[in-house]
Amino acid sequence: MDPSTSGLAQKLAEAGQSHLLQFWGELSPEAQTDLSLALQRMNFQEINGFFKNAMETSSSSKHEKMDARMEPVPREVLGSVTRDRGSLGDWELTGLQCISQSKVGALLLAGGQGTRLGVSYPKGMCDVGLPSHKTLFQIQAERILKLQQLAEQRHRTKCCVPWYIMTSGRTMESTKDFFARHNYFGLEKNNIIFFQQGMLPAMDYNGKIILESKGKLSMAPDGNGGLYRALGNDGIMEDMERRGIQFVHVYCVDNILVKVADPAFVGFCVQKEADCGAKVVEKTNPTEAVGVVCKVDGLYQVVEYSEITLATAEKRSADGRLMFNAGNVANHFFNFSFLKDVVQKYEPKLQHHVAQKKIPFVDTQGQLIKPDKPNGIKMEKFVFDIFQFAKTFVVYEVLREDEFSPLKNADTQDGKDTPTTARHALMSLHHRWVLNAGGHFIDENGRRVPAIPSLKDGTDLPIKCEISPLVSYGGEGLEELVKGREFHPTLTIDEHGVHELVKNGV
Ligand code: UD1
Repeated sequence: MDPSTSGLAQKLAEAGQSHLLQFWGELSPEAQTDLSLALQRMNFQEINGFFKNAMETSSSSKHEKMDARMEPVPREVLGSVTRDRGSLGDWELTGLQCISQSKVGALLLAGGQGTRLGVSYPKGMCDVGLPSHKTLFQIQAERILKLQQLAEQRHRTKCCVPWYIMTSGRTMESTKDFFARHNYFGLEKNNIIFFQQGMLPAMDYNGKIILESKGKLSMAPDGNGGLYRALGNDGIMEDMERRGIQFVHVYCVDNILVKVADPAFVGFCVQKEADCGAKVVEKTNPTEAVGVVCKVDGLYQVVEYSEITLATAEKRSADGRLMFNAGNVANHFFNFSFLKDVVQKYEPKLQHHVAQKKIPFVDTQGQLIKPDKPNGIKMEKFVFDIFQFAKTFVVYEVLREDEFSPLKNADTQDGKDTPTTARHALMSLHHRWVLNAGGHFIDENGRRVPAIPSLKDGTDLPIKCEISPLVSYGGEGLEELVKGREFHPTLTIDEHGVHELVKNGV
């Protein structure tokens, strides 16, 4: 297919993207077909428009101005697992009831590329080295299984929490294969619905699309806010409607402690009649890489860690705590009718955010260059950018040690958000579950291990302890297994019973 006769060359010339054909004559016929198909599919007018808007809104002066317009979340929309402890049981009951009526769906955002972690496969397939070697996907699947069981036991009806999994062009096939190979981790295949988000080209600072090789554009997923377009394009809203889903818990793949379809969070949002809700933890370090939930010009929004100035991140309230301390843990609640409005009405209004990146490219001589400083941008929509459209928005604060330990980076000495920190966070939580249920740990000399590990004698590593989600979703139901008993680590509790394993490295 000759680009000049097919109209492609003209389409590109009009869009200012003719350089994409500069190596056409050197490509094999197959590569020419691939490139031509990729280019035919693209809406350059739209992409150029995205670039123009994204560059305008990302200018740093706008950020500085935005800082002045930020206000913290007001107390009246905030529910807290500590301050409102008395209501927690009630929220949980409401949530469990909705789950038992099969009104709640879980939606996993798994279209990211895991660049920081540096793995070539989807992040959900990571094994962080737990005694069971379960992957993030398996842990989440088993939490869903257990939750269904808890709701069924309480309400004596069969129920289902369908699991919608958003992947991208780069992660779809390997994710689906992985689930098939593991027999969907015991969930029903029909209740796991995979769908795919869109991709956008990377562009240089002049709005020219970058070629990653002579015949291939540099493409990346369009951000986790690509969710809303994908929900509309892939028939997912219809699937939810058909199943009678009324509430959706949207969450990120990388948090090992995530409470999938958390009944307390769902129940809190339902009781508050919220369109939309966000789960947060207290941000205590100004430079922590989490977005903050706040108001800007009176509308709810997350100001991302890459978009806040240090001066604002460091601001403190009279009580000494960070003023913007509602740290986004990327767990969101949506009422179905609000989600439908977002997909049908609001999605086109969302602006892309700009991430400056070092993007490998071919130069005019056809040489592949790996730049050592940013040379272009990727454009992404963010999942939380629709908060502004919610009529009733609520914020739910949970404890970091119970619910948030994201896996972002590869292991390094003292690294943050690594496989080691994720593994330790899960084992430390399960250790506390055992202690709270009346169990104890003893060391190799038969002495009780203190509940709080000591930094001084170097025993600050967590007790090796792992409880299968198939046994306990959130620490419940453990008394009969552990009360009054003493255990040697490594302790594992799974559907087959309680096991003490021979010692091996954490
Ligand atoms: C995200 C949040 C940040 C929050 C932090 C907590 C966003 C935009 N930012 O930041 O506010 O404090 O988590 O850990 O949500 N993903 C896709 N498609 C994409 C890009 C990402 O599905 O195109 C998914 C990833 O697979 C992941 C999630 O979105 O599950 C978050 O992506 P990531 O890039 O890790 O976000 P952070 O920058 O860490």
